[in-house]
Amino acid sequence: MNIAQLLRIVELHDPATRVHLENVRDGCYRLGRAMGYKDGHAEAIAEAGLLHDVGKLHVPNFVLSKPARLDPHEFTIVKYHPEQGAELATRVNRKRLAMWIELHHERLDGTGYPRGLTAEFIPREVQLLTVVDVFDALSAPRPYRAERTMKESINELHSEVTVGRLNGEMVQAYLEIIGAPSAVPAYDLRATLVG
Ligand SMILES: [Fe+2]
Repeated sequence: MNIAQLLRIVELHDPATRVHLENVRDGCYRLGRAMGYKDGHAEAIAEAGLLHDVGKLHVPNFVLSKPARLDPHEFTIVKYHPEQGAELATRVNRKRLAMWIELHHERLDGTGYPRGLTAEFIPREVQLLTVVDVFDALSAPRPYRAERTMKESINELHSEVTVGRLNGEMVQAYLEIIGAPSAVPAYDLRATLVG
């Protein structure tokens, strides 16, 4: 099996995941370059972005498209997808990306899964992929809630930084890349005015 074949299977299983993977790939490349990574390294992060959710092949479609919040049992199933994605990446000759894929749901404050790692143990490439992933997930329509506006997604992203779950420097850089209105959070603007 090669990457194109794997992605085709993902698309047949859940078209929304395929769209998400393309978005995250593009965002990872752009943010990677903006954060100073050389072209080849940004490409590698982008490829990890393209593959990061392929483990969702192991999650039944009725769970992925459930028009309500997941129950604890369903969430347990979903929580395996980073490790299963890492395994699938190895099968398409991308073993070097497996660790990044496995860690893409870790959060800087240790509240992520599967390992509950904290910032110092999460590679910066993974922190970058996570920022792009979270923003695309926040922006995407979901069966169980109304679509967020851009402003609401940006506010959610800022609150993830405030509670210590996402890398603030990367969030800021990403919002600038996508031309988000009010890329600078309100508290920073106030500080600027007072200072
Ligand atoms: Fe994921």
